[in-house]
Amino acid sequence: MDKIQIFINILLICAARGVLWGGDDFRRKVSLELNPGQKTPSPGVDLLHVRALGENDTLHLLLSSNGAPAVLLVHTNSTESLIHVNWTAFLNRTPGSVRVEPESSVRYSSALVFSRLLEYDDVNNTADPQDLPESSFLPPYDLQNFTWSEMNSTLDYTHHSTLLCGRDSSSAFSNASLCLQFSAFESEGREEAWPSLLHSANSSQLRVWLEGVIPRTNQSRFSLELQTVSEEGFQSRVDIHEFIDDEYTPSIFQMSEWVSSQVNSSSVGGFVQWKPVAYRQREPVLEDATSCRNTLPISLTQPTPSGLVSSYFTHNSLMYGINVSFGMAEDPFYSSTHFISWTVLVGMGSPPSDFFSPLVMGIIAVGLGTPLALLVVGGVYVCIRKRREEQLGYQPIN
Ligand SMILES: *[C@@H]1O[C@H](CO)[C@@H](O)[C@H](O)[C@H]1NC(C)=O
Ligand SMILES: *[C@@H]1O[C@H](CO)[C@@H](O)[C@H](O)[C@H]1NC(C)=O
Ligand SMILES: *[C@@H]1O[C@H](CO)[C@@H](O)[C@H](O)[C@H]1NC(C)=O
Ligand SMILES: *[C@@H]1O[C@H](CO)[C@@H](O)[C@H](O)[C@H]1NC(C)=O
Ligand SMILES: *[C@@H]1O[C@H](CO)[C@@H](O)[C@H](O)[C@H]1NC(C)=O
Ligand SMILES: *[C@@H]1O[C@H](CO)[C@@H](O)[C@H](O)[C@H]1NC(C)=O
Ligand SMILES: *[C@@H]1O[C@H](CO)[C@@H](O)[C@H](O)[C@H]1NC(C)=O
Ligand SMILES: *[C@@H]1O[C@H](CO)[C@@H](O)[C@H](O)[C@H]1NC(C)=O
Ligand SMILES: *[C@@H]1O[C@H](CO)[C@@H](O)[C@H](O)[C@H]1NC(C)=O
Ligand SMILES: *[C@@H]1O[C@H](CO)[C@@H](O)[C@H](O)[C@H]1NC(C)=O
Ligand SMILES: *[C@@H]1O[C@H](CO)[C@@H](O)[C@H](O)[C@H]1NC(C)=O
Repeated sequence: MDKIQIFINILLICAARGVLWGGDDFRRKVSLELNPGQKTPSPGVDLLHVRALGENDTLHLLLSSNGAPAVLLVHTNSTESLIHVNWTAFLNRTPGSVRVEPESSVRYSSALVFSRLLEYDDVNNTADPQDLPESSFLPPYDLQNFTWSEMNSTLDYTHHSTLLCGRDSSSAFSNASLCLQFSAFESEGREEAWPSLLHSANSSQLRVWLEGVIPRTNQSRFSLELQTVSEEGFQSRVDIHEFIDDEYTPSIFQMSEWVSSQVNSSSVGGFVQWKPVAYRQREPVLEDATSCRNTLPISLTQPTPSGLVSSYFTHNSLMYGINVSFGMAEDPFYSSTHFISWTVLVGMGSPPSDFFSPLVMGIIAVGLGTPLALLVVGGVYVCIRKRREEQLGYQPIN
């Protein structure tokens, strides 16, 4: 019995080591193109196309400021698939003006839209907007009406990233911006800055921050309204995963995953993933960390505020929305720093999962290894003793 137990322990440790140090060597070749096929510049509307080429497939990522900012993800089973944009029609948000050719190569499409910025008066300092009456909400900021910065000056072809900043015409935004830092990846890794989410070549990251807005009440807090769009046959849910390790994101032991899975099957098409943490300063540190809450996804029927989404999806598409609010009860209000940032990952397939960090692995190894060593030593000792006793036992007969 002991031998079986030892064997199982060794297998467990080997499996954990494989998971931890084996890593994932899946890679894609990433290239960026700003405003593909555009002949005359269209101020205020940019379309970034990221082509992430696999061995037998292509992941197209599109980021656009046509209306509310959105990321569209199209996965094809071909290495030759192309993006076609009819700019005249795209600027008018005509369905079918953004296409992937050949259409038969498309395996999966989905989009994430940043639709609105909500502000509420947290008079009782509970940081729970769902418990508040509608009257606590100030008129929302509609992100489709923002003026967005040109991407050409912020595009980084080496690190596959860009920055999109928008502002409203109201006085509260006179010296403020809502920014989205977009990054695509060639392989697995994590950024140094917290929350240091684990990314893969099948995902892209958006760091969102709101800086310098003049809050309309002294106790203002903010929420973001997000929408996902996918083809028919998918359903939406938010899962929360708990873990015992916070080495990559101090004080955070949870991961939230908004997945779009196939109806009647457990197969996950795409995901939006985040750790429920926001930071009140540009440089994330523990003192400025605060938690996030999200509502459950609801099905939406109104037209999408994103010109990219309405230009791409021609068939019946499904739209779901959630609100993510920043802050927890008794935490300082937005006015304390005039800054809040939050990071989210968007991708296809199953979301990357954080395994134990090397530190925790070490602790587990010691925890499992010590009894194991004791068992082995004990086993050997018992064997030797038994042999000796046998030898001793036989002696008198001699
Ligand atoms: C790509 O296709 C080739 C030939 O069909 C196959 O041998 C190879 O395993 C595929 N690679 C991947 C990563 O699926
Ligand atoms: C682009 O769209 C416009 C308006 O929908 C249409 O008139 C024009 O023919 C289209 N151009 C091409 C090249 O398809
Ligand atoms: C891609 O998918 C289409 C539609 O299912 C199929 O006809 C085609 O053979 C596939 N191509 C490759 C290279 O697998
Ligand atoms: C704030 O708390 C007071 C006292 O508990 C309560 O009467 C009031 O309704 C609360 N206001 C809101 C907006 O929740
Ligand atoms: C934003 O623009 C849309 C379309 O032009 C308009 O219907 C809506 O009222 C505007 N929202 C705000 C908050 O101004
Ligand atoms: C970006 O585009 C604008 C307008 O199209 C142009 O005026 C500006 O020079 C461009 N900037 C760079 C860095 O290319
Ligand atoms: C605008 O914001 C910057 C940095 O947030 C600050 O240094 C500057 O003083 C502000 N200007 C005004 C007019 O508020
Ligand atoms: C990324 O997607 C490709 C194609 O579906 C798949 O073969 C690969 O295992 C995925 N890689 C990761 C890290 O999820
Ligand atoms: C906000 O606080 C300031 C100073 O504490 C006070 O003068 C002002 O009236 C407050 N404003 C509101 C809208 O409560
Ligand atoms: C899922 O299964 C139900 C019952 O088996 C069936 O009626 C429905 O059409 C299926 N939906 C899809 C999208 O396959
Ligand atoms: C987000 O919150 C606002 C204010 O309570 C509400 O009107 C809106 O319907 C919510 N959106 C979603 C997608 O739940």
